[in-house]
Amino acid sequence: RLLDDRPKPLSGKTAIVTSGPTHEPIDPVRYIANRSSGKQGHAIAAALASLGARVTLVSGPVTIGDPPGVSTVHVESAREMLKAVEKHLPADIAVMVAAVADWRTAGESGEKIKKKKGEQPPALKLTENPDILKTVGHHQHRPGLVVGFAAETQNLIDNARAKLERKGADFIVANDVSPETGIMGGDRNNVRIVTADGVEDWPEMDKRNVANRLAQEIARRF
Ligand code: CTP
Ligand code: CA
Repeated sequence: RLLDDRPKPLSGKTAIVTSGPTHEPIDPVRYIANRSSGKQGHAIAAALASLGARVTLVSGPVTIGDPPGVSTVHVESAREMLKAVEKHLPADIAVMVAAVADWRTAGESGEKIKKKKGEQPPALKLTENPDILKTVGHHQHRPGLVVGFAAETQNLIDNARAKLERKGADFIVANDVSPETGIMGGDRNNVRIVTADGVEDWPEMDKRNVANRLAQEIARRF
């Protein structure tokens, strides 16, 4: 639409959104990753922008394009993602959608690791990545509204409630990412919104509609 005359309840507000997977290098040619497509996070960034927010999207490696009307910063690893997010604080709203790799290799090899005749395969030693949502949720420049996701394959609500508490978030958008749901990488999503007040089940819908409804919900808080 050339003429977008919809109301802009988030005009004057700034938002940071993370999206996509992260890649954690093993050596110059190999990395650890996950199945996140970035579709949900990118749609949320676009939806917040369409409500008038000034949005910075910090995206891990994805194949989809940058959303319109949003300033996109491209990163690879969790540590780069954290640095980019902190650089854009303070902000009014943070929505941490990225499927950040929980672990990276303890010692990245500067050279391609080679097979060696008669030797066992190399073991990957892992170390924990920084928790970006938790850092933002407890930051001295904590945004007024902090939203996280909870990707689970079991005990969805209990795990989401624990994340709400532990990470200092105002909402957790909980979704079941079991392979049979097709959510990871797919176009549709089935979420429950977990807040201190309770749980709201949303019907299954397109990721774009989840994004628009979440943006409306965020706007209602201001
Ligand atoms: N998250 C993050 N940084 C991390 C891990 C997670 O910012 N290093 C954020 C995600 O973007 C999401 C929320 O935390 O908004 C929950 O991510 P999830 O993977 O479901 O939870 P974890 O805390 O990593 O716990 P686990 O994977 O063990 O369930
Ligand atoms: Ca995780």
